Amino acid sequence: METLRQKPLFNPDGDTDVNLRRMVGGNTTNLNDFNNMKYPWVSDWYRQAMNNFWIPEEINLNQDLKDYHKLSEAERTAYDRILSFLVFLDSLQTANLPNVSDYVTANEVNLCLHIQTFQECLHSQAYSYMLDTICSPEERNNVLFLWKNDEHLLRRNTFIGDCYNDFLVNRDLFHGTVETRRWRNRDIAASNQPYAAAVSPEAPLRRSG
Ligand SMILES: [Fe+2]
Repeated sequence: METLRQKPLFNPDGDTDVNLRRMVGGNTTNLNDFNNMKYPWVSDWYRQAMNNFWIPEEINLNQDLKDYHKLSEAERTAYDRILSFLVFLDSLQTANLPNVSDYVTANEVNLCLHIQTFQECLHSQAYSYMLDTICSPEERNNVLFLWKNDEHLLRRNTFIGDCYNDFLVNRDLFHGTVETRRWRNRDIAASNQPYAAAVSPEAPLRRSG
């Protein structure tokens, strides 16, 4: 498998012919040119994405505040955990998308990735706004870190987070290690070990089926 190479930043010798542009592995100048795109789908996607977001504080959550306190215990557990899962996951997306962009040499596609990064920031802002409006400061901190302490959330986040970590470390082995991580996640679920012990490099991998 071809090893991915991080694109150069300032590269005056990069290709200027749009026909030579490649999604990865190209020789890009990093120039943003909206008039010459190799991937024509970007044009519509970009415009839609630019028109497709809202500002969290413009949404009135008064009714949500009342409804939250009417939820049953099971409903509130589900609400809190879904929110915690999303808070963490969108934070991770914000941090990881630039890592992907480092290897994309079609600059029109990087524009899309940057917009997505911006929108993940907005999502994080929305979750913080929800937590601030609906929960007490103590409840807010509890929900914020449920993804670290709830075994189901941690298992799901571990699967995704480990894929991203693997990409940073083993770019040419990425697809192989996903399968490895899948087995390891099953082991974590089966073992009841603390997270750090279960994912340590010394932890034996069992093919638990
Ligand atoms: Fe998001």
